Amino acid sequence: MSARMIDGKELARKMREALRAKVETMKEAGNLPGLAVIIVGEDPASRVYVRNKEKASIDAGIHSEVISFPADATEAEVLAKIHELNRDEDIHGILVQLPLPKHFDARRVLDEIAEEKDVDGFHPGNVGALFLGQPKLQPCTPHGVMKMLEAENVPIRGKNAVIVGASNIVGKPMAIMLLHKGATVTICNSKTPDLGHHTRDADILVVAVGRAGIVTGDMVKEGAVVIDVGMNRLENGKLAGDVDYEGASQKASLITPVPGGVGPMTIAMLLENTVEAAERKAGVEKTV
Ligand code: GUN
Repeated sequence: MSARMIDGKELARKMREALRAKVETMKEAGNLPGLAVIIVGEDPASRVYVRNKEKASIDAGIHSEVISFPADATEAEVLAKIHELNRDEDIHGILVQLPLPKHFDARRVLDEIAEEKDVDGFHPGNVGALFLGQPKLQPCTPHGVMKMLEAENVPIRGKNAVIVGASNIVGKPMAIMLLHKGATVTICNSKTPDLGHHTRDADILVVAVGRAGIVTGDMVKEGAVVIDVGMNRLENGKLAGDVDYEGASQKASLITPVPGGVGPMTIAMLLENTVEAAERKAGVEKTV
């Protein structure tokens, strides 16, 4: 089989266009959504991600603030900023770009973001709501993957879903989302012996470990849907996913490219969460 590519870039563009119209209406009603992104340090990849998030939110008409701290900033300084943004009426979404420098306790920082402004969906309240099947703000990358599967009418109920990577950002929430849609879910990690034994069983294979080429064509089941969340910078400067695209394309029915697959969807979902947070706040104010 030769796979058809899932065009995440195009799907994300359509979602952003729909959001732009919604934001315009909200603005006229005096509820302009606002997003604040905090970045600490000079990690070049993080800088690019943050710039892309800022560009996309401006493009959607969302009020956007980027707060930049030097790498030697203290946790207390960043926490003070988060507390200020928690109180800021013009800001509905707060995101702290990860990874944080080593001297930070990332969990402590993320927990301080007000739950209703946690557009990354990393706060224990949002994680718990997702776990219980009553999601509020959901983590952007796995949520974006679900939107892609939905847009492509990929059947999930009764299917085998295998996730490679068990991070809090992608792997674990991805597993819960697929489980709630009726998939039989297996979560592997970088230490799983004979990874191919598991991946060859997958009708839906999501790979999110951050290791270029960890999944090769021989590890993919004929007709599988392959979602590549990896984003690796190769020595030649090129971007590559975790999946050997050429090899896996020979077996899969649908496959996401890198770049242009999951990445743009993550950003679209961030904007959607920001709009949702602003709508919820406006709704709450209307009813109290
Ligand atoms: N770094 C890599 N992915 C993410 C993400 O989804 N959210 C945040 N805040 N940082 C990241």
